[in-house]
Amino acid sequence: MSELISIDIMTLFPEMCEAVLSESIIGRARKNGYIDIKCHQIRDFAFDKHKRVDDTPYGGGKGMVMKAEPIFKCFESVCDYRGERPKLIYMTPKGRVFSQEIAKELNYEKRIALLCGHYEGVDERVLEEIVDEYISIGDYVLTGGEIPALAVVDSVCRMVPGVLSENVCFEDESHYNGFLEYPQYTKPSSWHNKNVPEVLLSGHHANIEKWKREMSVKETLKYRPDLYENVNMCRKSTMNLG
Ligand code: ADE
Repeated sequence: MSELISIDIMTLFPEMCEAVLSESIIGRARKNGYIDIKCHQIRDFAFDKHKRVDDTPYGGGKGMVMKAEPIFKCFESVCDYRGERPKLIYMTPKGRVFSQEIAKELNYEKRIALLCGHYEGVDERVLEEIVDEYISIGDYVLTGGEIPALAVVDSVCRMVPGVLSENVCFEDESHYNGFLEYPQYTKPSSWHNKNVPEVLLSGHHANIEKWKREMSVKETLKYRPDLYENVNMCRKSTMNLG
């Protein structure tokens, strides 16, 4: 049995995260004990009399900055709760751009915590003090780190054995082997004068597998030629090494 993965989300909006993570496949996996996710309210660690989690930036400028101390205390409490120090990732557009490869890395990590920023940012000193890595979900700016954190949690958790009905579910799919997924069809076999490809109805497993592989390559060339080039380059370099 592999070790249970734990993910801690540090946020000012734990209810927003809980709402998403209680539903559907991830919600079921949590209930069934396949993954251990906990959302932590940073505000609970603001110990001044106004429970302030943000303040104006030194040097002036627009917006507010999240204070160092509540985040620091919140992470200390996460470490106490887990009995060890998880790898802490700060969700920010400055980070390494998230990908299936990074999802796999985090899945191996087993103990991760995600820090969600808000307002105009987070006091740099606490980032220096406790954060291990920055991750971005793409070159655009959102109002906070919650949606990025949820995207990361979803893609990491669906790789955990038992979360999806069979491991093949994610091994087959878009981006797992570097290629995009082949097209899918379900009943009826004819709809709006469009027929399901004959080979899928044939019951001939070898031909069906061949069709799926060929269609994966075709879809990748059509929609993401950049990915196709990448996979080819990686294959060539491992062949040269071998
Ligand atoms: N916070 C705001 N925008 C973000 C992004 N693109 N990725 C990660 N965290 C963010």
